[in-house]
Amino acid sequence: MSATGVDGRPGLADATRGRILFGGDYNPEQWPEETWHEDVRLMREAGVNSVTLGVFSWAKLEPRPGVREFGWLDRLMELVHENGIGVVLATPTSSPPPWMGRLHPDTLPRDEDGRTEWWGGRQHFSHSSATYRRYAAAITEDLAARYGSHPALTMWHINNEYCTYDWGDEAAGTFRRWLQDRYGTLDALNTAWGTAFWSQGYGDWQEILPPRHAHYLNNPTQVLDFKRYTSDMLLECYAAERDIVRRHSPGIPVTTNFMPLWAGQDAWTWARQEDVVSVDLYPDPRDPFGAQDGALVQDLTRSQARGPWMLMEQAAGPVNWRGVNHPKPRGLNRLWSLQAVARGADAVCYFQWRQSRQGAEKFHSGMVGHAGKQGRTYQEVRQLGAELARIGAEVTGRRSSAEVAVLHEWNAWWAGAQDGRPSREVDLPRVLRAWHRALWESHVTTDFAHPEHDLSGYRLVVVPQLYLLTDTAIDGLVAYVRGGGTLVCGFLTGIADEDDRVRPGGMDARLRELFGIRVLHEWWPLDPGEHAECEGFRGTLWSEEIEAGDAETHSRYKGGELDGLPAVLRRERAWYVSTLPEPDALRALLAGVAAEAGVRPVLDGLPARVEAVRRGDLLFVLNHGREPVTVAVPGTYRDLLGGRPVTDSLELGRYGVAVLAP
Ligand code: GAL
Repeated sequence: MSATGVDGRPGLADATRGRILFGGDYNPEQWPEETWHEDVRLMREAGVNSVTLGVFSWAKLEPRPGVREFGWLDRLMELVHENGIGVVLATPTSSPPPWMGRLHPDTLPRDEDGRTEWWGGRQHFSHSSATYRRYAAAITEDLAARYGSHPALTMWHINNEYCTYDWGDEAAGTFRRWLQDRYGTLDALNTAWGTAFWSQGYGDWQEILPPRHAHYLNNPTQVLDFKRYTSDMLLECYAAERDIVRRHSPGIPVTTNFMPLWAGQDAWTWARQEDVVSVDLYPDPRDPFGAQDGALVQDLTRSQARGPWMLMEQAAGPVNWRGVNHPKPRGLNRLWSLQAVARGADAVCYFQWRQSRQGAEKFHSGMVGHAGKQGRTYQEVRQLGAELARIGAEVTGRRSSAEVAVLHEWNAWWAGAQDGRPSREVDLPRVLRAWHRALWESHVTTDFAHPEHDLSGYRLVVVPQLYLLTDTAIDGLVAYVRGGGTLVCGFLTGIADEDDRVRPGGMDARLRELFGIRVLHEWWPLDPGEHAECEGFRGTLWSEEIEAGDAETHSRYKGGELDGLPAVLRRERAWYVSTLPEPDALRALLAGVAAEAGVRPVLDGLPARVEAVRRGDLLFVLNHGREPVTVAVPGTYRDLLGGRPVTDSLELGRYGVAVLAP
């Protein structure tokens, strides 16, 4: 097998081999074996070429400590293999069997109030528990030895949606060790955490705890380090299992599935440790911005993958974890699946194949719902499977390129999301969505980037909000603008250093100079529903009392305390936006700056609700509206889905999609 991934490792192309992977989590331990045969028949009919097995199978594989029951999995692997279906095999370590909690209570995590997370649900494991890690390594070793060279195996899937925290005693020990590695001495820790305030000075490592329930605000840098540590501990668990499976199957790529825009893992760091970057994505079918939400996660995942990526899970119909769980109207599953492909996915998979009849997720849709093969859900899945098979060879492996990068980073999120800040209303995902939406609605394709990445390939860099920035990142942004790049920064950026220490002047001096800000006097956060009137638009969420230096003021505050002060200013190619403009205004502002920077929309004159994305030389056009539209597409193309030639103009029905090849 050739190595198609990054750094000579196997990659997604080793699993896809020119097809789009289509399938999903298959949990057949819920069903009698006769059903497996029916399942496989339906899978073939639906064009399923990949199933993910074993995600929650630990109790079935190891019913008692040390006992192994692989017979059922042997039969299943053979069955799917005989039917030409590949297997993404999961290590079952996200849901330990009940015996583990009973025999080894040390494997159970504690929350910040000291309450135990008991078995009976799932993901009740402590990342710090030596016992848990020992059992997880042992089952992984045996699974990998048995199936590591099985012909059905296409990919390893480690654990599932790593997302646990632990404030317990064993975690306190690993937290201290992590802090010793980071700081070396207690003096350095005391300085970084600012423990001189509120009598928090530590004189012995044993005094240090995870940030447990406290009378009033926890130390913010302690909380920030706890988040960094948690991400690192989970990554250690992942890497330990990954290294085991790699030993047994060096040619098989390894992944673990991210949750979309999830705060618990520094996904930039994690992505570097994976052969395939995969994500689970469940936009709300009723959300008018569901498509944009999807696009944001897809752009972020593609950027983390540095190429094609895997949509590991989505829902064919409703989920069961919102307050009200809406099904997908006819055509929406196809539309959102093809949107993921447009934005770089080479795998379109679901949770789960057959809808459960029992257990916590029996009201969560499956590819085969309770209505069975007659059901609309399965019928639409089947149609999609046929279409993905049709376009697979021409789509897979192609890359999309963007001229704009949006910067996002986890340390900034962790530090900025705490209590004791100027406003609890400022929520990074909300701000990020607002800025990404402005670009999405302007039909400009965006990558995401880490602030310390090389940004020189982008015409425009957008920073919705990065409260914390390292010196390296700040120097990088300054160099980027000096090198000819255009930068737009939102409020509350560059405020704190790596230890969450406020930078002198309230905002880093290099950035103030870059934007031409002389003094940042005060922040004036806005109440929910309150607006700040500005020339040409209304600001929301935040406003600032700024004194400009050699900046050019683009727009001023009107009325109120800030009357006449700059709301949006620029110094040459460096723009600063001190509020969150309402959506239309933010879109107009960014579209204007992008045009000045030489960034072009994918297509001109696109109707609202129509998305266009280029992937290699293919042009995807997606109608997110319920009304038919006519789209101008200058040139002559072949529509890979419809098979028809297209010249200059394209008709798309409700939720219609075209994949145009030159
Ligand atoms: C994911 C999870 C799946 C399933 C799904 C339901 O978070 O990985 O196992 O629970 O959500 O939407």
